[in-house]
Amino acid sequence: MHEDIKSVLITEEQIKKRVQEMGEQLSKEYAGKRVILICLLKGAAFFACDLSRAMSIPVRMEFMVASSYGDGTTTSGSVAVRLDVKDDIAGMHVLLVDDIIDTGLTFARVKTLLETKKPASIKTVAMCDKEDRRQNGLEADYVGFTIPDEFVVGYGLDYAGDYRNLPFIGVLKPSVYARA
Ligand code: PRP
Ligand code: MG
Repeated sequence: MHEDIKSVLITEEQIKKRVQEMGEQLSKEYAGKRVILICLLKGAAFFACDLSRAMSIPVRMEFMVASSYGDGTTTSGSVAVRLDVKDDIAGMHVLLVDDIIDTGLTFARVKTLLETKKPASIKTVAMCDKEDRRQNGLEADYVGFTIPDEFVVGYGLDYAGDYRNLPFIGVLKPSVYARA
């Protein structure tokens, strides 16, 4: 374990098992369909790539960047898309992938934007879901783990840009963010 981590919430083995299960489920449900995984950078990069490889059907990949305006510690409620998809997604079945849903504002904003591009369907996939933090009632279609409202890092989740590459999801020691 890393010195800045208080406890491991989800182990590397648990993540691998769950990603495999989700990949198999999605492969069954989307068999025969033209599927595109849209990864919300940066957080979802790790999960989206692993999920794509856990799927046994052909999938395309796209990447988007959406950021909420604000000071970085609190959300402002306004989400801007800074990098849009490159290819035409009309008629495709979209799986919008993120590492975590918190307030739900990112998913809601990006989904609304993608709907204007006329995909055949859009569903949301999140590795972690902090249900208690939701501000808009959004429910993800596929969730890896429902987690408590704690400061978690790893497997794409960062604190000030660090810890994304930890292979597990852990709770950050409060002393780390007290330093800031
Ligand atoms: C984080 C996280 C989700 C989003 C969830 O991304 O990766 O994308 O916030 O929050 P919400 O449900 O309240 O909108 P962030 O904008 O911090 O960027 P990052 O992915 O580059 O870390
Ligand atoms: Mg993100």
